[in-house]
Amino acid sequence: MVIGLTLDGPPCNRYGQDSENLEVQVTMERARIHVKILDPNENAFEVPEDLLAPDHSFNPKVSAESLLEFHYESEPFSFWIRRKDTGETIFDTTGIPLIYEKEYRELTSRLPHDANIYGIGEVVSNFRRNPEYTLQPMWARDAADPINQNIYGTHPFYIELRDGKAHGVSLLNSFGMDVLLENATVAYKTLGGVLDFSFFAGPNSYDVIDAYTATIGRPFQVPYWSLGFNQCRYGYHDIQIVEGVVNSYAEAKIPLETMWTDIDYMDQYRDFTTDPVRYPTDVMRTFIDKLHSEGKHYVLIIDPAIERDENYPAWTEGVEQNTFIKNPDGSIYIGQVWPGYTGFPDWFNPNTTKWWSKQISTFHSKVPVDGLWIDMNEPSSFCVGSCGTNRTGTPPYPWLDPDYDLNVPQTFPNPAYNISNFYGNLSVHTVSTEATHYNGLTEFQVHNLFGHMEAIATRKALLDIAPEKRTFVLGRSTFPSSGHHEAHWTGDNASKWEYLRYSIPGILSFQMFGVPLVGSDICGFNGNTTEELCLRWMQLGSFYPFSRNHNVKGAISQEAYRWPSVAEASRKALNTRYSLLPYIYTQFQYAHTSGLPVWRPLPFEFQDDPSFLSNEEEILLGPAILVSPVLTENADAVEAAFPKGVWYNFYNYEKVEGGKTHLLPAPLDGDIPLHIRGGHVVPIQKPELVIADMAHNPFKLLVALDEREEATGSMYFDDGESTDVRGYFSEVRYTADTRGIRYEGRFNYYTGANLESVVVMGLKRKPERVTIYGIEYGSWTYDAAKELLTITELELSMDTRFEIKF
Ligand code: GLC
Repeated sequence: MVIGLTLDGPPCNRYGQDSENLEVQVTMERARIHVKILDPNENAFEVPEDLLAPDHSFNPKVSAESLLEFHYESEPFSFWIRRKDTGETIFDTTGIPLIYEKEYRELTSRLPHDANIYGIGEVVSNFRRNPEYTLQPMWARDAADPINQNIYGTHPFYIELRDGKAHGVSLLNSFGMDVLLENATVAYKTLGGVLDFSFFAGPNSYDVIDAYTATIGRPFQVPYWSLGFNQCRYGYHDIQIVEGVVNSYAEAKIPLETMWTDIDYMDQYRDFTTDPVRYPTDVMRTFIDKLHSEGKHYVLIIDPAIERDENYPAWTEGVEQNTFIKNPDGSIYIGQVWPGYTGFPDWFNPNTTKWWSKQISTFHSKVPVDGLWIDMNEPSSFCVGSCGTNRTGTPPYPWLDPDYDLNVPQTFPNPAYNISNFYGNLSVHTVSTEATHYNGLTEFQVHNLFGHMEAIATRKALLDIAPEKRTFVLGRSTFPSSGHHEAHWTGDNASKWEYLRYSIPGILSFQMFGVPLVGSDICGFNGNTTEELCLRWMQLGSFYPFSRNHNVKGAISQEAYRWPSVAEASRKALNTRYSLLPYIYTQFQYAHTSGLPVWRPLPFEFQDDPSFLSNEEEILLGPAILVSPVLTENADAVEAAFPKGVWYNFYNYEKVEGGKTHLLPAPLDGDIPLHIRGGHVVPIQKPELVIADMAHNPFKLLVALDEREEATGSMYFDDGESTDVRGYFSEVRYTADTRGIRYEGRFNYYTGANLESVVVMGLKRKPERVTIYGIEYGSWTYDAAKELLTITELELSMDTRFEIKF
């Protein structure tokens, strides 16, 4: 449906000239109601289709069209979206003027009072956004995790929970904007582009995320190894120190899957080089070969900015191939990042992807890393706007200058409406808004896309090197669809207790944004951590979807082995994580196919229980593991709310009654409180220090029966690294009740692993006997007080179906 609009009355010209005519394009799709409002006489920049990766095979049980209705009134124009079943209006612009001007567009919808809105990021904030007042600017910004401001990524997407039902609203637009929650409204104020809205029906939160990720792109399929523990820091002076860290992890018997190196390895902070003295290429190569021979992995950082130097191939080849962002006069735009004066890749030029891929593959042939970490891609630049066209060399960092002033008035294109970018001027600490891209696009239009486009190019470069292997890219600045290409970390947090807590909403919101492989710097980045903080952070961080300890240069060391107490806590927590890897990997597979979060927000999982609307101190890892971390200093217990149902202590299988708050002991030398949810079967596997060594290790089944004494579970496995598994995968299902356990499904990947034992929790009567394929089995015990059946010494293959009866 296309609705033509003409300006209603005299123009208000609030921030520029009003459009005379608009077009409202409404399409009903399986995933969404898609409403695009644009000026047909203006050629506004829209997010190019090839930056998204819609899932064309998406086929929901119920299409958006049969759940939602679009209504409108033409004079004055307003529209509203209604749920068909309840008649509830979920988005409603009636009575609030739509403003559409040359450099300003504003659309506002009514919300209920005290609305339950989640998302609208990237931000360091509570998971449930403050409906009284939330002002969220969207302008990618390198800022060390200030609270309630704009930071690295742009995700104008929210989920609202209303009376137990969820719906989602997204705006696809790359221009700077503010999203404002205030006076029971949500307002979008953008500096251009088209108003490209999508409405997702739910009514389950995960249906919303399923449909949203079907339109922007599904999370990439993760390599199994990326789920291991990662150690990084800024300030590992040389490769010998890095080797020492790897050795210390091995000696401390703390799992370490992937070692990382920050910009320290580079020669004068230049991408695709190594420092000849501190990180000689041949020594790095030997180190990497050794890591690989031990089943470990290595990831290096690269930054997008390329130093201007006529003797530096990345620069000269870029100049030859015209791959850098320009000034309006056609000269190369110069900013400043770690190496000094730099150019910035123009991802819109098709040459750039080829040039980038070549730089990466040439480097990779010498330093065969397993993945890349792309940082500083807001893009960060230390001058305010251009540093000056002809600059070369390595100036001091501007913040070392006592007169350094970020308070610079806005220049071109000087929008009359100033979005609330917390640096003020949009060109501060980034590339100037007037810099130009291929096809004449300005940075003003495409700023928020830089990191996302770098992720696409970087993933492609890795696929060019090894098309058969899944890639690993970790990126800082993201946009809708980034999760199709990369993982994310929440940037430069601080070694403070509040950032331990904020890591939870940070990670939960990226589950909504389709970037499930996400984590925060464990033990904190900026500033010095403490033994206790680092211990609690290792406990929680061991269950982050992406688990990496990272630290700033100059701060005290914080590797997990630095304090005996932290080492012990880390061994325990990481061993538990590793034992859960088959289960966690399965969750990532579901994320990949249907957007399902790996860390499930309790407000979403229990969306009809209003007592969980603001719970963001606990997390469900997958459907079945409740994580209740300690988030405060000097605590030896944690008060944890349990959703309705039956729960069991993960470690001793004791029953915990749901629908209540329990005080859980959590001494520093104990385990992080974990509980299994009744109704679920969780497979665990014997852990090792390196994932590769677990491949054929035995399994144990944790069967947590619910009140009806039933439980189910599922598991997906494949080789964990191929881009195309060619049908070699297994997908199995566990079903359990008072009569036994069945394990069946599709078996097309050989693990060589056995099931060794089973624990059935919540079994109310003692079985008369246990049989396997009709043959009586002797190795079992039943504890009536604990309602626990334990079957041991099994040797059942995990690669075929089986049935245990009792
Ligand atoms: C940025 C990154 C941080 C990194 C540092 C040096 O601050 O966010 O993780 O350590 O740059 O490369």
